[in-house]
Amino acid sequence: MGISDTDFATFCNISGFGSAEAEILSRVAKQVIPHIPELTDRFYEILARDELTAPYLRQSSLALLKNTHIDWMTELFCGNLDEEFISRQTRIGETHVRFRIPPIFVAASMSFLRAALPAVILQKVPDRSEASRAVAALLRLLDLCHYLLDSSYNDALMDNLGVSPALLVRLRTVVARPYLGA
Ligand code: HEM
Repeated sequence: MGISDTDFATFCNISGFGSAEAEILSRVAKQVIPHIPELTDRFYEILARDELTAPYLRQSSLALLKNTHIDWMTELFCGNLDEEFISRQTRIGETHVRFRIPPIFVAASMSFLRAALPAVILQKVPDRSEASRAVAALLRLLDLCHYLLDSSYNDALMDNLGVSPALLVRLRTVVARPYLGA
């Protein structure tokens, strides 16, 4: 299911993510991409040390997981965030649902990246103003990816409960009436 065009436009309008931000990311790509494998190693060390996340890594080959992660992060800096990019995030979300990765693990991983990737940009991009614009663009993009990955968990929930997207939104935003007695 993924994201509707309207929701995507709303995200971009409010967050301020657009083609100029994608372009800034592609401009810093050369300085950032060489450091992604080292950052990925650090990330997987943390996941492997945590007793709750470690068993999920054993479902797959560590080398494969690291490579898919490196490719995914590299793509954030490619400057081409088209429809295919968006549907790829949804498919990645579906893979995590299939492997029964709890969404809190994805949220925690995104949180790690929101700190670790900007640190690389600030360290490796010498132009201060370019670096801070790249950090702002990256944080918006990570939020978009996080939303898209999470939407797969919503889709699985809707399928399992047999509810429509509109009903899910209503159920999530309805406020229970206070009990006023008989
Ligand atoms: C920022 C968070 C994460 C991102 C961006 C991410 C990215 C990816 C990508 C790109 C794939 C390949 C998907 C496909 O080809 O369909 C994948 C697969 C997978 N990920 Fe993640 N991942 C994240 C967090 C996690 C966490 C926290 C775990 C486990 C604790 C995990 C475990 C897996 C597993 C088991 C697979 C399947 C690998 C296979 O096909 O054998 N991921 N992930």
